[in-house]
Amino acid sequence: MDQTEVIKPNTLEELIQILHEIFASDKVNIEEVQNIVESYESNPREWMKFAKFDQYRYTRNLVDEGNGKFNLMILCWGEGHGSSIHDHANSHCFLKILQGNLKETLYEWPQKKNNCEMVKKAEGVLKLNQCAYINDSIGLHRVENPSHTEPAVSLHLYSPPFSECHTFDQRTGHPNSVKMTFWSKYGDRTPFAIAQSQENN
Ligand SMILES: [Fe+2]
Repeated sequence: MDQTEVIKPNTLEELIQILHEIFASDKVNIEEVQNIVESYESNPREWMKFAKFDQYRYTRNLVDEGNGKFNLMILCWGEGHGSSIHDHANSHCFLKILQGNLKETLYEWPQKKNNCEMVKKAEGVLKLNQCAYINDSIGLHRVENPSHTEPAVSLHLYSPPFSECHTFDQRTGHPNSVKMTFWSKYGDRTPFAIAQSQENN
């Protein structure tokens, strides 16, 4: 693809189609993906059916399995909901805001055996349509909806897909392995017994 060519997906469906084409190749240009995801203008009518909230914590809702190359999902954050500090299992992680704002706090990897407070590297607020990127070589992060009056919705792409990652205790740096599941898939609520084990991502 020509580097100077600007691709602007007009719909979520078009964005998904473009992502399939990009990730079909073995080389991923991070900046290119980030630009394309950012240039999609969030239209709630297009993603509403995936946006299923829970009263108590944020939810992960599968949108597309990207031919096995990536997982695309919509996360729904109620007021004040947030993730643990976590890693990304050696995958690329793109995070775009579809509604509201999310606060992202970056942390350094903890020193092994150190047992001390984790070191904050940066923090910032992601605004509507912005697309952030992280991977394990950049560090760890925590994502939160800082608003106590507005919900937030975000679109996440993970490549390659993964279903297990680590969360970290902010005070000690101690890691825990967690399995992640989906609150819904393709707009349908996941059966309760499976969703019960949903963990942080
Ligand atoms: Fe993350």
